[in-house]
Amino acid sequence: MHNIAVMPGDGTGPEVVREGLKVLAAAAAVFGFQYQITEYDFGGERYLKTGETLPDAAIEELRGHDAIFLGAIGHPDVKPGILERGILLKARFALDQYINLRPVKLYPGVKTPVKDKGPEDIDFVVVRENTEGLYVGAGGFLKQGTADEVAIQESINTRKGAERCIRYAFDYCRRRDKEKNLTLCGKTNVLNFAHDLWQRAFDEVAAGYDDIETGYAHVDAICMWFIKNPEWFDVIVTDNMFGDIITDLGAMIQGGMGIAAGGNINPEGVSMFEPIGGSAPKYTGQNVINPLAAIAAVQMMLETLGEGEAAAAVDTAIAYATSEKLESMAVGKTGYSTSEIGDLVADRVRSE
Ligand code: IPM
Ligand code: MN
Repeated sequence: MHNIAVMPGDGTGPEVVREGLKVLAAAAAVFGFQYQITEYDFGGERYLKTGETLPDAAIEELRGHDAIFLGAIGHPDVKPGILERGILLKARFALDQYINLRPVKLYPGVKTPVKDKGPEDIDFVVVRENTEGLYVGAGGFLKQGTADEVAIQESINTRKGAERCIRYAFDYCRRRDKEKNLTLCGKTNVLNFAHDLWQRAFDEVAAGYDDIETGYAHVDAICMWFIKNPEWFDVIVTDNMFGDIITDLGAMIQGGMGIAAGGNINPEGVSMFEPIGGSAPKYTGQNVINPLAAIAAVQMMLETLGEGEAAAAVDTAIAYATSEKLESMAVGKTGYSTSEIGDLVADRVRSE
């Protein structure tokens, strides 16, 4: 029995989560696994009513689940940052989900803005460190509000934190068994402390993985190559901030936020899966948003739960929807409603 916590969240989050759960139910029926869902209403509405974001007691409850499925966080009436830090980052940090795994995969039939590139060229995975760097909230103001104001935002990089992320990336690259090529993405020419530590940790861990080819690229060059030569990449490992930025670029070359999913992974604990786009409040309740990213998040969740066959079937069903049915990944331009896309994928899973 898989115990799954579901946090639909804000805006269009609940709509895409509903379709993800529809596909999960179809997969469970076909592949014969049992699961149980506990729903949590954390998000903007609850915050506006109660002032609560994600309380410590809820973290303890989440810890007791096998996985978490998250819709989206972000509410137009809440000041930017409160829900992001209070819910999303709090869960990532408190549950020590130290990996943010973001596949950049161009499904067949999906249009990429990168000219002359196809599914065989755009298929790599970014392993983003998820608990350190600029995201820890270290720093402060001096002389705030005066003409002499100083703001300091520190990037915290621990040897342990970098090393466990790098080690995960090597293991993942080996498991993925594609090109067995791992690229470290940093900015060693400028960030001479933080990324010096990363580079040394990377080189030392690499010594234990003779089967993996390694490389290094500066983050600015990575942005160039994602567009020019995406086929060069297999697995990329990078710090929290750079990982945040390059995976939005990655989402665009794989066809947009409507298809991009990610997993916040604690390999020894509970992991959380989400479509990586936002809550898109202006489309709420219109049944127009593309749920494929949420469905792809369910696919990643199934893999983590040890339901590999079910995950593969969901992947095939997504590819069927993109290659044979949907006209585009963009909101309102898919040719189908949100719930119809969920039906398409769920029916295809049921036909396995
Ligand atoms: C993401 C998001 C978050 C991040 C925000 C909402 C805090 O952009 O998951 O990539 O920066 O990590
Ligand atoms: Mn982001």
